[in-house]
Amino acid sequence: MVDRELHRGLEGIAVAETRLSSIDGERGELVIGGFPVEGLATRATYEESVFLLLNDRLPTAAELDSFCTELTGYRTLSEEVEQVLRRAARENVDAMDALRMGVAAANLGVDTTEPTEAREYAKRLVSVIPTIVATYWRYRSGDAPVEPREDLGHAANYLYMLSDDEPDPAAVRGLETYLNTVVDHGLNASTFVARSITSSESDLVSAVTGAVGSLKGPLHGGAPGPVLEMLLTVYESGDPEGYLQETLDAGERLMGFGHRVYRTRDPRATVLSGAAERFYADAGDEAFFDFVEGFEARAVSRLAEHKPDRPLETNVEFYTAVLLYGVGIPRELFTATFAVSRVGGWVAHCLEQMADNRIVRPLSVYVGDRDRTWTPVDEREATNSPKASTE
Ligand code: COA
Repeated sequence: MVDRELHRGLEGIAVAETRLSSIDGERGELVIGGFPVEGLATRATYEESVFLLLNDRLPTAAELDSFCTELTGYRTLSEEVEQVLRRAARENVDAMDALRMGVAAANLGVDTTEPTEAREYAKRLVSVIPTIVATYWRYRSGDAPVEPREDLGHAANYLYMLSDDEPDPAAVRGLETYLNTVVDHGLNASTFVARSITSSESDLVSAVTGAVGSLKGPLHGGAPGPVLEMLLTVYESGDPEGYLQETLDAGERLMGFGHRVYRTRDPRATVLSGAAERFYADAGDEAFFDFVEGFEARAVSRLAEHKPDRPLETNVEFYTAVLLYGVGIPRELFTATFAVSRVGGWVAHCLEQMADNRIVRPLSVYVGDRDRTWTPVDEREATNSPKASTE
């Protein structure tokens, strides 16, 4: 029997089996490739996390070495992509739009006389995205792009390509923790898009291009920028209570709080707050971090008074903003840096979908008319009714 019940946003509907990550929203637990996020994020390199997702196990030292060498080989951009990014930067195109353009051309320069394995594209995409983002940013800042360096790991090389400075080890560790923490998170919107595109037996470049478009939206990957603005504004004004009161009284949402799935503090917020605390302590800037922690506590308690029936706790974006700001990622690149990480999850989901595929084809519930009478075009009256629209 066909189920015609409407499930808006597919909420509560399971559409795929996965070994990649598992979320328990009630208990506030996230498992990535079999590891609780707390254990993986602070210990692994990003390359290890991606190997884990692609192979369902951690690499040996030799495997990791050859995996890193392979990834390093895919870091450079074709001249054509570089030109697109230069033009995008010159026209002030948003970073996520520039990334979409760069990713869409990621199969330029691939020898198509030989069939290319999806796994190779997976590694290419993981490797090239940081170069696309950094190249765009260098042009956007009026600087020349910085060539990737083979002697640096994934996270360190990204920081290096952005700044042209020798990366600070504390910043590299902070960024790496972030990249590991958000690499995969169940069937979120962009991951679903990637799997959905893959399900028609399309290719990984198409799937990741679509996923970038999905991640761009403010309901998905766009929150950490506004979180940072909020924190800097309140830090400067020195009046957190006033800000919280005004915002909630105005019926506005506090950025960085609340989640569709978690009813507890987002476990990723806990990992990232630990990483941020260490980073700011090393950098000798405890004052900002102390302010952030104090603000979080006040906000959670004000939200509990504001919505006593609905747990509204800190989500991942709150400490993403704090950590990325600390390690020197420009605010304009927060969402693109999310993509630098999440591409590991996207491509692993695509490969999982390919291994056990069924084309994604949900139903829609038709709520339109069924008995309209056709009128020739010159007899139709103008009307503003959307029903009369031909679109
Ligand atoms: N600040 C204030 N109130 C909030 C809130 C927040 N951050 N998040 C949810 N609420 C309130 C809503 O206004 C709603 O109240 P209402 O029932 O009176 O309308 C109630 O809590 C339930 O919200 P709902 O929109 O149903 O929750 P959701 O599960 O659909 O939304 C988010 C989840 C993340 C979209 C939402 O919490 C939010 O907008 N947070 C702020 C943006 C953010 O941090 N996004 C990053 C997410 S990782």
